[in-house]
Amino acid sequence: MSETGIAYAICGVGDIPNRRARSFSLMRVEADPDGGPPREIPWHIFVVRWDRKVRGYVNRCPHHNERLDWEADRFLEGERLVCGKHGSLFDLATGACVEGPCLGSGLEPVKLAIVDGDICTTGVVLAEDADDVVPARDAGDVVPARDAGGVVPARDAGDVVPARDAGDVVPSVVGNTPGVS
Ligand code: FES
Repeated sequence: MSETGIAYAICGVGDIPNRRARSFSLMRVEADPDGGPPREIPWHIFVVRWDRKVRGYVNRCPHHNERLDWEADRFLEGERLVCGKHGSLFDLATGACVEGPCLGSGLEPVKLAIVDGDICTTGVVLAEDADDVVPARDAGDVVPARDAGGVVPARDAGDVVPARDAGDVVPSVVGNTPGVS
């Protein structure tokens, strides 16, 4: 199973209210460049839900490498992402800074997919999976990761939006998100 073939479910789509964002603190596993054993590295990300689309970024402002949400889970100002420290504004769909002290830089994107109504990270290995890769729940290689970092919200089965379109996996392309022409 390749690294990029694993999708880790971090919450249901319905766990994030529409046009809101939520932070997650996870642990990534990365190879040691010096040839030692793989290392576990904190990975703080946030996910924005905008109607039926989702977009993820590393929770780190390119200005001073601070997390953006100086108030818990406050990432949005209107239709822009905002850093709570000095007020930089970022395009929701691209993460590019459009106003503020880090103009010209941008947020680091996180690869996401929606699988069976779950928001999943892809292209990374999370810590709980390092020693024992759990087989796919379906064909999509989904591994629950809800306890990986502790700051993962509980599921709310009452408001889960099912996966749709081709197969079960819907890439996290924000086609009609403000800021995208
Ligand atoms: S740390 Fe984000 S704008 Fe300064």
